[in-house]
Amino acid sequence: MSIERRFDVPLIAEMALREKQVQQVYRPFIAVHKWFARRPGTLFRGLLLAEFVDSPLHESFYRSHDLAGLRVADPFMGGGTPLVEANRIGCDVDGLDINPMSAWIVREELDSIDLPTYERAARELRNSLEAKVGRYYRTRCPFYGDVEVLVKSFLWVKVLSCGNCGHSVDLFPGYVLARDKRHPTNVLVCPKCGDLNDVEDPATPGSCSSCSAELRIKGPAGRGRCECPECGHSNTYPGTPSDPPDHRLFAIEYHNPGRASRHKGRFFKKPDAEDLARFRAASEVWQQSTPRYVPDCEIPPGDESDRLHRWGYYRYRDMSNPRQLLGLESSCRLIADVPDSRIRRALATNLSDLLRHQNMLCRYDPKTLKSLDVFSVHGFPVGLVQCEPNLLGIPKANGGNVGSGGWSNITGKFVEAKRFCDAPFEVRKEGSRRRRVPIEGERIGEAAYGRRRAVRLRCADAASSDFETGTLDAVLTDPPYFGNVQYGELMDYCYAWLRSLAAADHECFDRASTRSSAELTGNATEARGLTHFADGLARAWAQAAKALKPGAPLAFTFHHNRVEAYCAVGVAILDAGFVCTAALPCPAEMSGSIHIHGTASSIVDTVFVCRSPDAEQSRERAGAPEDVSVLVGKDRAQLQAAGWKATYGDTRCMLLGHLTRIAVDGLSPRWNKSLPTEERLALVKDALNRFGSPDDLGRRLTEAPLEESFARSVGSASSEVEQVAIPF
Ligand SMILES: C[S@@+](CC[C@H](N)C(=O)[O-])C[C@H]1O[C@@H](n2cnc3c(N)ncnc32)[C@H](O)[C@@H]1O
Repeated sequence: MSIERRFDVPLIAEMALREKQVQQVYRPFIAVHKWFARRPGTLFRGLLLAEFVDSPLHESFYRSHDLAGLRVADPFMGGGTPLVEANRIGCDVDGLDINPMSAWIVREELDSIDLPTYERAARELRNSLEAKVGRYYRTRCPFYGDVEVLVKSFLWVKVLSCGNCGHSVDLFPGYVLARDKRHPTNVLVCPKCGDLNDVEDPATPGSCSSCSAELRIKGPAGRGRCECPECGHSNTYPGTPSDPPDHRLFAIEYHNPGRASRHKGRFFKKPDAEDLARFRAASEVWQQSTPRYVPDCEIPPGDESDRLHRWGYYRYRDMSNPRQLLGLESSCRLIADVPDSRIRRALATNLSDLLRHQNMLCRYDPKTLKSLDVFSVHGFPVGLVQCEPNLLGIPKANGGNVGSGGWSNITGKFVEAKRFCDAPFEVRKEGSRRRRVPIEGERIGEAAYGRRRAVRLRCADAASSDFETGTLDAVLTDPPYFGNVQYGELMDYCYAWLRSLAAADHECFDRASTRSSAELTGNATEARGLTHFADGLARAWAQAAKALKPGAPLAFTFHHNRVEAYCAVGVAILDAGFVCTAALPCPAEMSGSIHIHGTASSIVDTVFVCRSPDAEQSRERAGAPEDVSVLVGKDRAQLQAAGWKATYGDTRCMLLGHLTRIAVDGLSPRWNKSLPTEERLALVKDALNRFGSPDDLGRRLTEAPLEESFARSVGSASSEVEQVAIPF
């Protein structure tokens, strides 16, 4: 029995869909540190149990397992999702990643920690910070006169000096600070005096209650141009700046719990003289100090980091304002003084994760009234309005936090993450409710069930992994998806800071940067294209093929908008001598995810299952149907059963998954891996186009009535179709 026969698409798709909406609820360990493009843990648990446990997945999923003696590897471990799932059910694990931050983070996820000691240290750190910088995060409540209330976030707008008259121009793309979703009214900033106005109907904003100027929704800045309100000159931005842009503090959101019961909505204010003086005071302290931990290194050019350069951010330290730098440097000093190395490492990890919230690239969402951290999209977009959350965080008296992006948020989530590692659970849907199901006995970490499981984590290139020949029971991974995320460029930001704080604790911190020419991502700056990706992936899969026991699976997830990316996947599978025994659909992105919102991107991955040609499953595969419309129709029906109506983007990706598998089937008997890469890619591309253009096919399949596809799939006499239970 195996993944091919036992994997239950509707069951896992339904769980993965729920998990990806709130991944921290299902897999709290991911809060140890941000990693990009984490796939659902429920998917990898499903794959592992389908492969190794001889009972239906819906039964085994909620049971405890100790699969001692099995060895599972992930050559692209990133944030560690597949490895953690394998470790949790008792397997020995072996993980690689080219990025040094990855080995650090996965080590932090798997290393046990004494939680009471950690919690005490985190509290002490926050108390010491409160004494050092807490006064810079306070304000006066203009509604009730309360002094020293806590600031949730400071809101800043970029400014430029008019090229004609020198007037300081606010680069507001719009004047709406808050929409009437989570606040009773719309809050508009007055274009003239900057006062905040409550507006019922944004269609008729009226005039400012302070200066009577006309209120507006749309701001003057957009598409790189902004008209000066004084002289009408049309300024362009960002220009070619040699320094980071200037900002003006235009609003503050604060927390005043004593007045919340009689105050409608959130507390917003225009900053007063005291607020501006507080920021000046923090800046002066910062200017007078000699930093020991704030990195001084330059931001190298790159596909993502060039955007930073365009705005004048040339060093990582430029990304934060002086108050943030003061708080971060103070945090580093306190962490460096912690004597217990395990606690010090955990706090250093927390600092590295905190950084994504403590920089002047964080944006503000006027609908949800939340700060969006710099990595909420997989890049470094530079907005015009920025949000600076309270660095300390605001803990609530009865647990939890007000707002996000501060120390108390990060350490609170870390505690939840480590509790989950000690006592993992699953979340089962029961009617409209979710129930936590403890999985007694399972544990994430090196020791469990009274024994130690092997954990080997390395910073290395998957293409030259040194897994021992014939020792692995499975390779489970999600490789880079060609150009989707520039891991090295993005993680460099955290690495630059963590390195100055924790270099002595970790062997891979001797490099200047997390970037590597061997990273398997398309990157125009580094001239890495499709052939680099195909060749690297082929070498990685060849290493996996060598290390797997006979018949053991390589299972990996993939989706991409470009057909070419699937050609590279096909080439890599063929070069490694695998055949592809299944292409299974699974939702793996959040449906409204900001980085795919508004694109034709898919939220559905294909899980490619590959084995050596002589494996039993591979022989069965030979008799499988090749009617792609039936296969895709079945996938769509199964996703629908799980609660997801596949879009055109999803359908096209599922189609490309099947086409790739079929192309591999067809090409493998006469595959010649010594042909030049371009030729091998072209061969796969021809095979992918065998049924016509994937775009047209995808469109037709999206429009096809599901009942018809489903009926055809059930009506097909193929053994493969019969084996998949579709719960209708
Ligand atoms: C999609 S991510 C993996 C995400 C991970 N499974 C998780 O749950 O967070 C792909 C990973 O491949 C890594 N990578 C890219 N090129 C590599 C190479 N040549 N060798 C090893 N790892 C590489 C990236 O650093 C990235 O962490």
